[in-house]
Amino acid sequence: MTSTEQGRRKYDALADRYEEIYFYVADMGQELVSAAGPPPGARLLDVGAGRGAVARAALARGCAVTAVDASAGMVARLADDHPEMVARQQDAGALDFPDGSFDVVTAGFLVQVLTEPAAALAEFHRVLAPGGMVALSLERQTVGRLGWLHDLNREFFGGESGGDPLSPDGLDELLVGSGFAAPERALVKVPKDMDDPAALWDWLALQGVPEALDSLPGGEAVTFRERFFRGAEEMHRNGGITLEFAATLHTAVRS
Ligand SMILES: C[S@@+](CC[C@H](N)C(=O)[O-])C[C@H]1O[C@@H](n2cnc3c(N)ncnc32)[C@H](O)[C@@H]1O
Repeated sequence: MTSTEQGRRKYDALADRYEEIYFYVADMGQELVSAAGPPPGARLLDVGAGRGAVARAALARGCAVTAVDASAGMVARLADDHPEMVARQQDAGALDFPDGSFDVVTAGFLVQVLTEPAAALAEFHRVLAPGGMVALSLERQTVGRLGWLHDLNREFFGGESGGDPLSPDGLDELLVGSGFAAPERALVKVPKDMDDPAALWDWLALQGVPEALDSLPGGEAVTFRERFFRGAEEMHRNGGITLEFAATLHTAVRS
């Protein structure tokens, strides 16, 4: 398995509201499929498909789409929402397809959550036909003007665990090391304006922040809320509240 049991449970729990929270994945999915540029009829495998942001864009281009995900919850939603694609529960590091069975392999925001991304890339190489294309997106952390919110979260909920995130250079190196040629990449930004502080709070609420606040001791939840709204009001007055989502899109050819 190239992801942990904890990771699978997280995505099972998120399946119903995943694209509501991460609303930028739909645009990013279209960008990724455009970068891959599959012709109609191409056999396309989308790995770590989630709710289908990338797979939907591939269907719209007339591809024959197979979508896999490690989370049973995500696969159940995919099968319900998109009967026109084949949806299977599989691990990215142990794909159950014969060698050379796809023209394109896509994976949106997958490699960054894997414990062994190289094992997944080896599988993508194996299931691609010679000359086939791999297209991956990698989230870029862009704190920007939301630094105050990151600091607030860190102060109340602690720092993020885990090692250094996979960098764009690191991913290109992994691609070449896995036998892919001609890696190319592009930076894509999807900024999202929020109407007011309440809209930013509602977005955090979708991610379970109020429940997390309930677990804090004493009056810390009240303090967090007060400081959140102070910071958000200030940002709203000084240029507006914008969420700055960005990703690098990586393509390479199976040699
Ligand atoms: C960040 S989400 C991205 C979903 C989708 N590709 C998108 O762009 O919206 C990562 C997805 O990868 C899936 N995933 C995590 N580890 C996986 C693994 N080892 N094999 C296959 N899928 C995995 C998760 O269940 C989740 O649906």
